[in-house]
This record gives sequence, structure tokens and C-alpha cells, in this order.
Amino acid sequence: MNNMIDLKEGSFFENVKLSADEKEIIIIDQTQLPNNIVYLHLNQLEDLYQAIKKLQIRGAPAIGIFAGYSMYVLIQQYDNLPFEKFYQKFSKDKEYLNSSRPTAVNLMWALNRIEQVVLENKDKDVKEIVRLAGLKAKEIHREDKEMCLKICEYGLSLLKDGDGVLTHCNTGPLATSRGTAIGPLILGKQRGYDFKVFANETRPLLQGARLTTLELQKAGVDVTLICDNMASIVMKNGWIDICFVGCDRIAANGDFANKIGTSMVAILAKHYGVPIYSLGPTSTIDMNCPNGEHIEIELRDSSEIAEKWYEKPMAPKGVKCYNPSFDVTDHNLLTGFVTEKGIVYPPFDVNLKKLFEE
Ligand code: MRU
Repeated sequence: MNNMIDLKEGSFFENVKLSADEKEIIIIDQTQLPNNIVYLHLNQLEDLYQAIKKLQIRGAPAIGIFAGYSMYVLIQQYDNLPFEKFYQKFSKDKEYLNSSRPTAVNLMWALNRIEQVVLENKDKDVKEIVRLAGLKAKEIHREDKEMCLKICEYGLSLLKDGDGVLTHCNTGPLATSRGTAIGPLILGKQRGYDFKVFANETRPLLQGARLTTLELQKAGVDVTLICDNMASIVMKNGWIDICFVGCDRIAANGDFANKIGTSMVAILAKHYGVPIYSLGPTSTIDMNCPNGEHIEIELRDSSEIAEKWYEKPMAPKGVKCYNPSFDVTDHNLLTGFVTEKGIVYPPFDVNLKKLFEE
């Protein structure tokens, strides 16, 4: 498997793993890619919190998987407590992890699923509760792999050989278990398709430049790196047939939060008449959130804009910076959502609801 990405079998980019004794989570520190491949072994609350906050682990589905495993490795450390004390500690740890990043709904979704197991089994021995929570964490991971593979198939059905595809941020096996928005490009390559992919660098943390190009290169996909402000010219040149982006939270009306700059891509796509799809698992849909106005947008440190990646700070000391990590794309700009249950077209308020009715 070295240096290869195989969507079915996984790859060295497999980013969230439990150690053999299930006491630690092993991740690749994504802040060090592409230059260094550093594995972190984590099992302390503060380290787990910081891993999410600092984006050592990132991407909505991967954050969810990581959160499930985090609770599992933490609660093993106090499985000798009586249930009441155990649950108090569980709730505190859960709330703390949940406060690490506000926008991606998968974090809360996974933590709630683990909590549900704890509450449904509260009459059992605490060690047994911990065992069942571990099974749930593994199930969340397994489900994500299955969902990704279906998303890849549905996404690929929208593409034809030779297509030019624009993507933003990183949505491959590092951000999910197998890939969402760039998953179909990797799957297509395995089936003999040749796409011409343009990857936005994705300022300010360069997930596109550092991670997407790395994954696509490893998969043998033809990828060209562009700065975010070059998206318009490549569309105007006629090089883009379709845009594939991810999602961090989809509201009930189809507005969706994704990496900052996604709404700019969607506005350009509408202007140039290019279809744009957002690809993600149904775990990213938040039916309790009526529209994009209700999505909390994470604000991050100024230094990411003013200093990071430069040998010297590139902005005057003390300059005011505004650094939102996500933006909300209006549902009117989107062609469709690609989920593991199929492709959802407008009207999104009606059709997203149907996904949960079966
Ligand atoms: O801040 P990040 O790197 O966690 O943001 C990630 C994104 O916005 C992705 O596009 C999104 O999570 C979808 S990942 C499949």
C-alpha cells in the first residue's frame, strides 16, 4: 500500500486509528504535512482537545470519528467509578471536547451517540458501559467508511472522463475515513478516468495546497494548485466542468457551512454556469438548524493570516485581522448535495427532510 491510496483498502493516510490495546488514538499530525509524517499517540483530555483545536485532526467526518474514540479512551481511565460519578466525569469531558470547534456538526453528533449508549445502559456495570461505548465508537468509524464509499460512487456518476474539476479545502481520506468531495476523483482514477483537477490553496491554513494536492498526487490524479483568487480565471478559461466541495454543517434549508472561501467558489460557479455539488455524509446534516443564519462560525487567531507561513510577519504588527474559518453558502447557489443516500436536488428544504423519513 505504500505511497498509494486505495479507497477500499485504505492507505497510509488512514488518519484515525485505535492502538492495539485500545488505550490510545493514533493520528497523523496534519499540521506537519506534507513535509513530515508524524504520528501522535493521544489519550489525555487536554491533548485530545488541542488536537482538534489546532487542526492536527480536521475535516468534519474525521473530527466526529476522533471524538467518538476520544470518549472511549478517556472513559476507560475511570471505569472503576460508580455510575453517578462516572457520568459526571463523562459529561464534563464531553462538554470540553465539544467546545474545541463550533462549526462542524459531526463533533456534537458523535459525542451524543456515545452519550446515548452510556445513558441507555446506565443500569449495567460501568466496565460493560465502557465496552459498549467502544463498540459504538468503532461503529461510527465503520459507518463513515461505508458512507464515503457510497458518496464516491454517487459523485463519480456526475463525472465524465476528461472533466475539469475545481475543489476547495481538503476532503480526502485525511479529512474523512475514505474521501467525500475528492473521493470520486480518486475512485475514478482507479477505474481509468482522467480528470484535470484544480485545487484551491485554501487560505489561511492551506489545506488545499498541503493536503489535497498531496492526496491527489499520491493517487495519481492530475492536479494543479491555484491560489483561491484564481478560481475565477480558470472558470472563465473554460477549464472547469464541475465544482466539488465538502460541508461542515448543512442546515435544513440547504444552506451549508464549509471552509472559508466556499461561498466565493459557489458565486463564481453560478456566474460562469458551472454546476457545483457539496459532498458529505448525512451525519453532516443538522435538521435542528433551520438555515445558515443559525450556524456558528469559528473565528481563529489573527496570527494565521498575518504571520503563519512567512519567514517574517507579512502584516504590520498589531494590525486588526478578521479570520473566520468557515462561510455559509446560500442554498440557491448549489446544484445538489451528494450523500451516501443519493444525490439531493432542490427544493432542499423538502428533499433533505426525505433523507430522514425512511
Ligand atoms: O478547518 P477544517 O480544515 O477542519 O475544515 C474542513 C472543511 O471545511 C472541509 O471541507 C469539510 O470538513 C468537509 S471534510 C470532508
